[in-house]
This record gives sequence, structure tokens and C-alpha cells, in this order.
Amino acid sequence: MSIIFEPMTINKMEVKNRIVRSATYEGMADEPGYPTETLINMTEDLAKGEVGLVVPGFLYVSPDGKATPRQTSIVSDDTVPQLKKLVDRVHAAGDKVCAQIVHAGRQSHPDLIGGLTPIGPSPVTFAPSKITPREMTIEDINRVIDDFGEGARRAKEAGFDAVQLHSAHGYLISAFNSGYSNIRTDQYGGNLENRMRFVLEVYRKVREKVGPDYPVMIKLSSADFTENGTTIDESKQIALRLAEEGMDAIEVSGGTMEGTKSPAWTKINSDTDEGYYLSNAETIKELVGDKAKVIAVGGLRSPGVIEQALEAGKADFVAICRPLIREPDLVKKWKEGNMKRADCISCNLCFAESGKEGGTCCGYLKKEQE
Ligand SMILES: Cc1cc2nc3c(=O)[nH]c(=O)nc-3n(C[C@H](O)[C@H](O)[C@H](O)COP(=O)(O)O)c2cc1C
Ligand code: SF4
Repeated sequence: MSIIFEPMTINKMEVKNRIVRSATYEGMADEPGYPTETLINMTEDLAKGEVGLVVPGFLYVSPDGKATPRQTSIVSDDTVPQLKKLVDRVHAAGDKVCAQIVHAGRQSHPDLIGGLTPIGPSPVTFAPSKITPREMTIEDINRVIDDFGEGARRAKEAGFDAVQLHSAHGYLISAFNSGYSNIRTDQYGGNLENRMRFVLEVYRKVREKVGPDYPVMIKLSSADFTENGTTIDESKQIALRLAEEGMDAIEVSGGTMEGTKSPAWTKINSDTDEGYYLSNAETIKELVGDKAKVIAVGGLRSPGVIEQALEAGKADFVAICRPLIREPDLVKKWKEGNMKRADCISCNLCFAESGKEGGTCCGYLKKEQE
């Protein structure tokens, strides 16, 4: 049997295979931010497609933390019954589901947050929107840490099997880690020890709320590719500290909307283009050892490449996003013996679709059908 289909645990959660569906913003929530039937059906399809662990698109934890239109919310207790419907459908399909929780920080927009100015560690203009965030006060910091804690508590109450902190791609937690967006001079800025204080405090609050046996994971930017931004040497130190404090799994990503590299690279044409952040995952795995599971993400497309990475111990799991937009049943095909390369051509037309009314879908297939 392929190593892909060997189960593995994250804390007390048994995951039936090594493929995680990397969080993918759907743009399918209704106005209060509740999951629609379309979103629930789509998530159920992924579960039926035999992914080991489904991570739906990021859920915002604070009213001023919304990243995108029609994003799913976890800001209040009345989201819990709605989220539970989604969770129940995944469970009924025999699968596990993890809530990724986020605050967008300086990458939010006044149009999404009732006209407010987005908040961030420092007033460093976000290049794509040209908006300068308001520097967070200590009160803001404490409030958002509490919001992450409450978000995690609600995720557990809704029946999610795990929670994942979004500390990547320039969103608030990663913005604190990064010397590009964090130029504070207080205890949350300056040297790395100070910059990583926020992520450690968020993690501790979340752990306090969910208890020791509940799987807590993080998606961590291993490198930002911006001036003074997070480097692999820094993310190694952050990863080790988190693992030592009890973080159960680290998904190793990278890139931002402002740097020279993005989280979702194009032109993944051959085996050698695949796994563009895999070497960073390997570096972090070597460092954290058995303290935390490591999940590689970024351009993984072929079962052969994935098997080699897992066999070599470069990562414990791999996460896949775009190929599952195009083929939600890809892992099922592999399980049934059709070990084909994913059809996804990494053209990123799905990003454009995610901003439209119908939500995220494969823009390439849609164009072909038109
Ligand atoms: C349409 C779309 C939406 C995404 N939404 C999220 C998200 O909500 N949270 C997140 O951490 N990453 C998000 N990502 C990044 C992916 O999870 C993943 O890290 C990246 O696409 C690389 O993996 P891939 O090559 O398998 O697509 C998104 C990517 C795409 C294409
Ligand atoms: S539009 Fe379709 S083929 Fe292109 S990257 Fe997205 S999922 Fe892959």
C-alpha cells in the first residue's frame, strides 16, 4: 500500500491518510457569514473524495478581521449551529474537518468591516489596497487574542475535529512575525522574540480554551520574500518555540501578496516544479522532530512526488489546494489505483472566480465550457 494511505494521528485525532485539503476560501457564505447549502455541498464532496482532513476556507474571528466578501464567520456564538451543519455533513461522509481561523489585519478593507480602518501591528501601507492600517493598541492586541480563543472554542463546540491558526500570507498573525509589517518598538516589535510574542500568546489562549487533547495546528509562512520580511531562519525559530509549547501540527507555506513570491505559484509543469516550499517543510521537520507533525503545501501534484517526500520523512502530511478545486475526487482516484498527476495546470484562474458571486471554482474548466 502507498504510504499516502497510511493513517497518522495529530494529537488524539486519527487522520485516515496523509492528504490534507489545504484551506481554500470559497466565497460561499451568506451575508451574516453563515455557510450556505452550496458551501456545505462542496465541502461534503471533498469528504466523499477521500481527503484525509478537510480544511474549509479561513473563518474570521473578529468583526474587523474579515478578509474577503462572502467569507465564513466564526465571530459569535450564533455561527455555531450553522457551522455544525457543515461539520455534521463531513462526519456523515466519514471524514475529519479542521477550522482554519484568521484575522486579516492590514489585509482587510474598510468595505468589509463597516467602514473601519483595518488594524495591523504598525502603520505600514498594504500595497494592493494602498490603505495604511491603524497601529494596534495593547487593548486591540488583547481583544484579538481573546477573539482567537473564542473562535477556537466555537470551532470545538461546532464539532470541528481540529483548529488551525492562520499565520501565513500576510494575515495578522504572520504580519506580527514579519519585520516588513511589524516595526513596533514595544514588547510586540523589534527583535524576533518580541515579534513572535503575538503568535505565542494567541496559541496559549487557544490551547487554554480547547484543552490539551484537542488538535491545534498552524499554517506558518516559512518565508515572506519581502524586504525585512520573515526568513526561513526566523520561521524555524518560531516553529520550534510553538512545537515546544505543544503545537500539534505545522503546515509550512510562504509568500505574500506584496513579496516577490506568492503562496500559490503558477507554472507547475513537471515533477521538479512541484513542492516549492517542501525544502522549508523539511528544514522545519528536521528541527521539530517528533514534537509536532509537519504538513508540506505548495504545488504538490503527483502521487510519486508526494510518496517520495513522505517516505523520506520531509513531512508527515501534504496539503493540496488547487488540484482539489478542479478534481474534488482526486484522492479517491489515487485510492482506487489511478495514481495520475492532478489535472490542475496552476493557472490561478480560480482566484478570479473566488471573488465572483458563485464563489471559488476552476476558472480554467469554466472557460473551456463557455
Ligand atoms: C482560491 C484559493 C483560495 C485560498 N484560500 C486560502 C485560505 O482560505 N487559507 C489559506 O491558508 N490558504 C488559502 N489559499 C492557499 C492554499 O491553501 C495553498 O497554500 C496554495 O494554493 C498552494 O497550494 P496548491 O499548490 O496545492 O494550490 C488559497 C488558494 C487559492 C487558490
Ligand atoms: S483555475 Fe483550475 S486549473 Fe487553474 S489553477 Fe485553479 S483549479 Fe487549477
